Amino acid sequence: MLSKNLQEKLNEQVNFEFYSSYVYLSMAAYAESVDLSGFANFFRIQAKEELAHAMKFYDYIFQKNGNVQLEAIEKPSYHFENASDLFAAGYEHEQLVTKRIYALADVAFEEKEHATISLLQWFIDEQVEEENNFNSLLKKIRRAEGNPAALYMIDEELAKRVFVDPTTTV
Ligand SMILES: [Fe+2]
Repeated sequence: MLSKNLQEKLNEQVNFEFYSSYVYLSMAAYAESVDLSGFANFFRIQAKEELAHAMKFYDYIFQKNGNVQLEAIEKPSYHFENASDLFAAGYEHEQLVTKRIYALADVAFEEKEHATISLLQWFIDEQVEEENNFNSLLKKIRRAEGNPAALYMIDEELAKRVFVDPTTTV
């Protein structure tokens, strides 16, 4: 059984994960519009990952005999300058996600809600990977800036990303 407070906070995170999916789908659309189809592929898959995160919270709330209430999803930004801008925004977004997960973990710790602490531990580990992924790609893309051949190679690399449901791997 979840406290009212924790249930509300977890519901907010369901919404935020859906919003994250929207954020990345919007980035995919920008990449599509400037013919960076590999970048678009990367962000489409990222958007799918965020949906999987949302559903992990969603399923957990029901497992704990709680209830999910879906809210409106905020409009994502859609104006980007260039390829590195996408990854700079993505890296920033992931740092915000980490902050939110930490804040949730603080509440779970305060309430000594160990099952929720365990769930959030999974997300804490996932965030290390997400931040590192965005940061290392951002550095790579910044180095390639102004060099179309190098950018094309990164686009080719990003085209290879395939979706693996992060919630089914340990
Ligand atoms: Fe996420």
